[in-house]
Amino acid sequence: MDQILKAVEILKGGGVVGIPTETVYGLAADVKSPAGIDLIFKTKKRPFFDPLIVHIGHMVHMKSLVSKFPDLADFLCEKFWPGPLTVVLPKHPSLNPKITSGLPHVGVRFPKHPITQKLIMTLQSPLAAPSANLFGKTSPTKAEHVKKEFPELFVLDGGDSEVGIESTVVGFDDHFTQVRIYRPGAITKETIQEAFDKFFPKKVVVGYAPSPAAPGQLEHHYMPEIPFVLFKSKKMDETVENEIQDKLKLRVLKSVELVLSQIPELAAREMYARLRDLSHSGKNVIYFHVQDHMHDGIWTAILDRLEKAATLKY
Ligand code: TXA
Ligand code: MG
Repeated sequence: MDQILKAVEILKGGGVVGIPTETVYGLAADVKSPAGIDLIFKTKKRPFFDPLIVHIGHMVHMKSLVSKFPDLADFLCEKFWPGPLTVVLPKHPSLNPKITSGLPHVGVRFPKHPITQKLIMTLQSPLAAPSANLFGKTSPTKAEHVKKEFPELFVLDGGDSEVGIESTVVGFDDHFTQVRIYRPGAITKETIQEAFDKFFPKKVVVGYAPSPAAPGQLEHHYMPEIPFVLFKSKKMDETVENEIQDKLKLRVLKSVELVLSQIPELAAREMYARLRDLSHSGKNVIYFHVQDHMHDGIWTAILDRLEKAATLKY
């Protein structure tokens, strides 16, 4: 049977499926299926206070999801969709409140991956989908990552995720005059600001929301299977090694360095897969040195994830 039709059948029956997106793989359910939505939280062991992002396949889907679609949101969607941007807007009263964790707002995204677009269009309904990993753990960027974590799950294989880190999540002030970034991503603050400055008739200020802005943006998240140590101001040396060994109560320390590309787009793409591979390299600690050039743009998003993945920081 065609893979998409099989996925549609599972979703219609209140099940969940693994879906490819350009950011990371998702664990999807039909927004109209209460059983499917419950199953997402159960499968991921995700607390109910952490809201799900809804994925659309066509702009007509917005009508059933949001109750307001202000000019600023319209502009952002026009500019960056389909793509790695989630827009948080007042929710439609008919939308299952469990999707938004009881909040009056919903996060919506139009993913770029053709398989997932086709799935949504065939199902004729948007999909609620968090990243397809156990709660708090590293996000998946390959179908095999998802299959390994959830062996029973039906997964649509769409190849490696091109972006590699989760979408930028943006919201607005109450009057919809300012943009607030809740979670940094590949569509950067600088890119969004530039788009408004160039093409929007009014001056719009794009800023980061005070942390933690969005529910689910917890201090610890994205954690690999073995401890991860982030070096921001110090470097790995013997004194620090002894301290790490002590703090993590390790009999012997066998550490391995996470090395990422100097090009931020490539670093984002490879980061989660590297963390997974290094977790199974026979070592017991992964460490990473933040370098001077790693700031602004996509580095902001990469460091946001690495900060939260870290067990220790120096
Ligand atoms: O790229 C992505 O966004 C991926 C793919 C699968 O689309 N999805 C993803 O979902 O990263 P998840 O569940 O791992 O992260 C969703 C986060 C929440 O933890 C929260 O921080 C924010 O998005 N979010 C979702 N709905 C929100 C809402 N109504 N208000 C504020 N923040 C929200
Ligand atoms: Mg996640």
